[in-house]
Amino acid sequence: MSDLIHQINKEKLPKHIAIIMDGNGRWAEEQGQDRLFGHYHGVESVRNIVEGCAELGVEYLTLYAFSTENWDRPKNEVDGLMTLLVETIRKEVPILNKNKIKLHVIGDVSMLPAFALKELEEAIEMTSTNTGLNLVMALSYSSRWEIIHAVKQLAKKVEQGDIKAENISQEIFNQFLCTHSIPDPELLIRTSGEFRISNFLLYQIAYTELHFTPTYWPAFRKQNLYEAILDFQNRERRFGKTSHQLNTT
Ligand code: IPE
Ligand code: IPE
Ligand code: MG
Repeated sequence: MSDLIHQINKEKLPKHIAIIMDGNGRWAEEQGQDRLFGHYHGVESVRNIVEGCAELGVEYLTLYAFSTENWDRPKNEVDGLMTLLVETIRKEVPILNKNKIKLHVIGDVSMLPAFALKELEEAIEMTSTNTGLNLVMALSYSSRWEIIHAVKQLAKKVEQGDIKAENISQEIFNQFLCTHSIPDPELLIRTSGEFRISNFLLYQIAYTELHFTPTYWPAFRKQNLYEAILDFQNRERRFGKTSHQLNTT
């Protein structure tokens, strides 16, 4: 187990890893604990994986922390998650700065309570000149929200005559997504044994390699990350071509 990191080919690291951090509630409930206990422990995993990615030299890490649909959870869980978010940001900003990590957020942040939004905006500002790992938090995020939001912005540009409908290309559309400055993920990990995407980065994962693990998020550590990266490095990414073409050019 301990030599997994040495098996990773540093030349073939995914530039961008995205993670659906799932299973906090079940992890807690299996121990007879409240779901929030699982969310608190999930923060430990976030720390560990952010550190693991920074050490390896991964450029972008996107973490799905709260979906648009998660607003429909019981009020005490939503409130608990918002409080946890604010507490974590407050505690972590000095560590992010020390490790040169730049914080970004994607999602419908207008839905966040004002105190959480303020904390988040300050943290983004305070880490904005960092040049190391880009940590992208998906908060109040869903892919269908993002796509519709992008279409509305683009439609306005067309209405105003700034863009001609026939000139809309993938490059132009991409500029209206929350991820406009971020390359597509090469590797997407989902924890907790669920085999679904749950409204995450639907447009961006067109050619992403998917890795599913039964491990619950609060139990996920660097070794699990290394396993996922090794799995990724053993795949042949063909992008529609044949294996023969890839191996002869
Ligand atoms: C993921 O864990 C964290 C959030 C969605 C906020 P869950 O809270 O979904 O945990 P399970 O899937 O119910 O076990
Ligand atoms: C997906 O997990 C969202 C996050 C991890 C933030 P969910 O637990 O909300 O997903 P479903 O409802 O099981 O698909
Ligand atoms: Mg879940």
